[in-house]
Amino acid sequence: MKDYKRYLITAALPYANGPVHIGHLAGVYVPADIYTRYLRQNGKDVVYICGSDEHGVPITLKAKQENVSPQDIVDRYHGMNKAAFEKFGISFDIYHRTSAPIHFETASDFFKKLHDQGEFIEKTTEQYFDVEAQQFLADRYITGTCPHCNNERAYGDQCEACGTSLNATDLKNPKSTLSGQPPILKETKHWYLPLDKYEDDLKKWILEDHTEWRSNVYGQCKSWLDMGLQPRAVSRDLDWGVPVPVKGADGKVLYVWFDAPIGYISATKELTPDWEKYWKSDDSRMIHFIGKDNIVFHCIIFPSMLKAHGEYILPDNVPANEFLNLENDKISTSRNWAVWLHEYLEEFPDKQDVLRYVLTANAPEAKDNDFTWKDFQTRNNNELVAVLGNFVNRTLVLMQKYFNGYCPPANEISEDDLAILGQIDNIKLQVEKSLEAFRIREALVEAMGLARLGNKYLAETEPWKLIKTDEKRVGEILNVCLQITANISILMDPFLPFSMEKLRSFLNIEASPWEAIGNISIIPEGHALNKPELLFDKIDDKQVEFQVEKLLATKKANETQKSTVSPAKPEITYEDFVKMDIRTATILEAEKVPKTKKLVKLLLDTGLDKRTIVSGIAEYFEPEKLIGKQVSLLANLAPRKIKGIESQGMILLAEDASGLVFVTPEVKTNNGSEVK
Ligand code: 2FM
Ligand code: ZN
Repeated sequence: MKDYKRYLITAALPYANGPVHIGHLAGVYVPADIYTRYLRQNGKDVVYICGSDEHGVPITLKAKQENVSPQDIVDRYHGMNKAAFEKFGISFDIYHRTSAPIHFETASDFFKKLHDQGEFIEKTTEQYFDVEAQQFLADRYITGTCPHCNNERAYGDQCEACGTSLNATDLKNPKSTLSGQPPILKETKHWYLPLDKYEDDLKKWILEDHTEWRSNVYGQCKSWLDMGLQPRAVSRDLDWGVPVPVKGADGKVLYVWFDAPIGYISATKELTPDWEKYWKSDDSRMIHFIGKDNIVFHCIIFPSMLKAHGEYILPDNVPANEFLNLENDKISTSRNWAVWLHEYLEEFPDKQDVLRYVLTANAPEAKDNDFTWKDFQTRNNNELVAVLGNFVNRTLVLMQKYFNGYCPPANEISEDDLAILGQIDNIKLQVEKSLEAFRIREALVEAMGLARLGNKYLAETEPWKLIKTDEKRVGEILNVCLQITANISILMDPFLPFSMEKLRSFLNIEASPWEAIGNISIIPEGHALNKPELLFDKIDDKQVEFQVEKLLATKKANETQKSTVSPAKPEITYEDFVKMDIRTATILEAEKVPKTKKLVKLLLDTGLDKRTIVSGIAEYFEPEKLIGKQVSLLANLAPRKIKGIESQGMILLAEDASGLVFVTPEVKTNNGSEVK
């Protein structure tokens, strides 16, 4: 690998529309924190950047729901999340925010430079506009008479009386729901970044030069690139965001995914006047830690922006994690199905490391994983307490008991002892190898190997038996154990920073750099230890039951809230059923249908062919996050035109009070597999 001089570690900026939960932590912030702490211990020049993403629809929607201003929302959650991260030991060098003036300036300058260089395509389309409210209207702000059933309260995108999906311009007598006045049609201009222009460069950069990227990241990039890139609008008609900084752009803001990644740059600027050396030198290594739903933005769109700009480096790796579920159910903010970090910290105020440990041991690196409170208890009791805590505790208690807490000499330690101590170097190398390949979960298992080694050594040497006959040998054994313990305090520091600090205080030693791992005389003869306490406590059944009860209560509340289950439909025969050709298919392309609120145009690989489907799912899914998803398709539904696009089938979805989900095969199947 190239000899990098400095590191720029970014962690996805969470939207400031809700509290941070364990899914965020496992996906992004804990692995990034471990990696960054490891680099710092190695004496590397590193900055770890994060902050709140304060623009975009999620924020304005939340504000509307609560009838407060978007600024109120972002102020609340920025403060809450910043404090929670800090208390949890996520060691950002800065936790910035995209509402900061320096961010507005940076994002504006970025856009302006691209604009002045002629990098954008400008395109004009027609949209409804409320003259009185002086605002472009999203479809739901328009009502009128349904051309199909004459319902006078049809919305711009749908008539709820007859269920027809409408185009706002189809409505008879359209009216703005803001002013009650008929809207006018008004042209609106937007700026598009021609991603296609960077396609060849991106192909080489990712598909040839970064074959080491995780297969989920590489695979998603490959399918985007294989499909061919299209120009992408980077502006929106909204009033919340960074204003488009050119003439003729009143009332327009930058698309949130244009401004948010620039947030990494503005945060670095805020952090240090030396920010350019991190962003603009080839010997800086940028790593983006993100969740899998952010892959396209960090691997295709932001790099295209950076390339268009011309002065910035590109990320060298983008270790994206899959998702973490909670008790076998998808984490969901709207259903309150989550373990919220701020609540965890209130309920387990001194157990930051337990959660860090469990989320790392079970990190969703290669596939989605499940967090359960039972597993949380088991890993704490059987691993942290019974393996790591047990070794440290036995060593320190025996030291007090036999040597009053003063390190005994080890002048004549045996070959066997040296062989044991020699294994520390191997473990160190393995942990390094795993961390450097972003296999953080594997690194933790290897690091725990040192505590296991210590336990094995104690079990084999049995100093508690030997003390009656050979105190000198017991001194040597405990010296070996102490050196292992001191090595653990360095090796495990990136993973368990609170506990290792505690351990160092028991050992009465200062923090050491990574390179000290393998040193077998960290604790000198005669060194006085402090009185130890337990490093980890058991978590009892009651604590787990309390958490499980809490989730059950959430589940119940959600079920009560759910609208009644729709009534059963009339019976059909098996012959009726087999007429339906339902089969699995993979989404190759997805884009929002312009001027609609709900419609997404999809290109599907059905195993039989590639075909277009129009589906009313835009409110629940971001189109770009659908690429690569496998779904079930009713393939022989008669084609019909929706908004002038022929839809050749229908995707199967399940709906409850919290929204729509795809009916997806449990494991990937060949496209075209029949659903029977
Ligand atoms: O998906 C999200 O939560 C986004 N707010 C992540 C933004 S990452 C970066 F680009 F700022
Ligand atoms: Zn109607």
